[in-house]
Formats: sequence, structure tokens, C-alpha cells
Amino acid sequence: MSPDAGGHVSHYHYLKTFCNVFFYSVTEDENIDLIQIEKLCRQHHPKLLIAGASSYPKSIHYSQIYSICQKYDTLLLADISHTAIYVATQNHESPFGYADFVTFTTHKTTRGIRGGIVMSKAQYRSSLEHAVFPVVQGAPKFNEILAKAVMLSELASIDIKKYVEDILKISNTFTSILMNKGIKLYTNGTETHLIMVDLRKSQITGKNCEDLLFSQHILVNRNQLPNDNKPPSITSGIRIGILTLATINMLENEYTQIAELIADTINGKCIIDESLARDIIQSYRIIE
Ligand SMILES: Cc1ncc(COP(=O)(O)O)c(C=O)c1O
Repeated sequence: MSPDAGGHVSHYHYLKTFCNVFFYSVTEDENIDLIQIEKLCRQHHPKLLIAGASSYPKSIHYSQIYSICQKYDTLLLADISHTAIYVATQNHESPFGYADFVTFTTHKTTRGIRGGIVMSKAQYRSSLEHAVFPVVQGAPKFNEILAKAVMLSELASIDIKKYVEDILKISNTFTSILMNKGIKLYTNGTETHLIMVDLRKSQITGKNCEDLLFSQHILVNRNQLPNDNKPPSITSGIRIGILTLATINMLENEYTQIAELIADTINGKCIIDESLARDIIQSYRIIE
């Protein structure tokens, strides 16, 4: 997926050094462009199609993409780094049963160690194992394997449906507050913990907005949007992620204030009570 539409750098940057890489994007109404995918497959007969994103806030319909892959003998890799938990709770369509490979990072919705998990259909097991050892690893990293096992056992011991409900409740509060204040969101909302703000109607760039919010103790990142005319170092968008707010059980009246602060900053009407912002952050400090 093209980076301005939400694709992740790990899906193309290194691959470009030994593969031909072609990008697909989104339609005018900001859904993954299946017609473009089909056209690219017809033209190039790719060996592999990667579905998955880091700044596309909607669920991905793997079955639709898979039916295109089948026609062109293309393998499908689903990177569910940002959406593993929603797949587990069936809030999003599962890629299992369709994708040949499913990957996810363990440090996002699943709240584990910085690392990843790769799964595949059985017939790829030995080539996948070879691609890990000796290509990228010299020995098993038992500390990391153990940390991933701990992560999985923690996930098995919590009510993940409730965790996802909490995430989506906070996301929806954020999107309603931002949209009610006239702010445009990429895909007009979210089905995840990610909220992509389109600043093209506002007076500020992604970088300005990131800096302004950072000065108020709010961390977001600048992010390009489809057809962005600003470079990745400036951008026309920001990406907000609310996972930590769910993890620390932040109260509704508190995260509402944060969403309002963000909206007012974007609209140039920021009347920040700095000490309140600092108090909120400090009262939730989880890393000593
Ligand atoms: C969709 C997706 N895949 C893979 C990664 C890779 O994660 P890392 O930067 O930890 O290697 C990310 C990270 O943001 C991501 O968003």
C-alpha cells in the first residue's frame, strides 16, 4: 500500500533493492482501491501482495483481496501489526484461511515486547524458517521468545473483548469531538485505535501540529495522507493513537479534555491550562 495512503516502510523499502515494487492506494472515498489492485496484478503478475497498514484506520477486507490474488497466482501476506487484537475479537475480518503469511508486531495492540510474530500456511514452513535462520538470525533469541509467550499468556488472561470495546469507545469519542469541531479525518473516522487527521483545511502542517501538541505534553506523529503535496518531514496530517489511554483506564472526562485540546490546537484556538495537562500526564505515569 502506498505510504501516503497508509502503507508501512517495511513493506517496500528494502524489497525495492531486489524486487520490483508497485503501490496501490485508496479510492476517492478513501477505501482500499480494489480495482487498482486488480489492474496492477493483471499488468505485473506479482509474486506477493502485501495487505496491511500503519496509518489506514479502517479494517481491511482480506477475502476480497485474496480473490484477486487467486486469479493471478499471487501470494498474500497480511500484516496485522495494528489490528491483531481486532482480528482476535472478530471486530475485523480475519486474514487466516486466506493469507499465505500473516505477520504482526508484538508491541502494538497486543502490548508486548518490541518484536514480531510470523505465521504461514504449512507448505511455506521450511522456506520461512530458512529465511529467519541463517538469513536474519544466527540463533533463537530465547529472552524474546519468552517475552512473547508472556504477552500471549497475559492476553489469554484478560477480557480482550472488553479491552477492544474500551479502545473503540475512546477512538469514537475522539473522532466525534474532532469532527464536531469541523476537523476532517482520513476515511471519515476510524475502526481502530488510530485517528488520522487531515490538516489540509487548517492553517497548520503536520510538523507544526506535532510540535505544538508536544509542547502541551501530547505526543502524536506527523503523517502523510493520500496525494499529500508536503514531504514526509512536513506532511499534511497527524496520526493520533489512543491505545495507552485504554491500557491505563483513563476516565472519560479526562480523555475528552485531551481530544478537545487537540481539536482546539488544530483550530488555532488553544487555551491550554499547562498545569492541568501536566497533572493529568503525571497522575498516569506508568514508567518510573
Ligand atoms: C503495519 C506495520 N508493519 C510493521 C511495522 C514494523 O514495526 P517496527 O518498526 O517495530 O519494525 C509497523 C510499525 O509501525 C507497522 O505499522
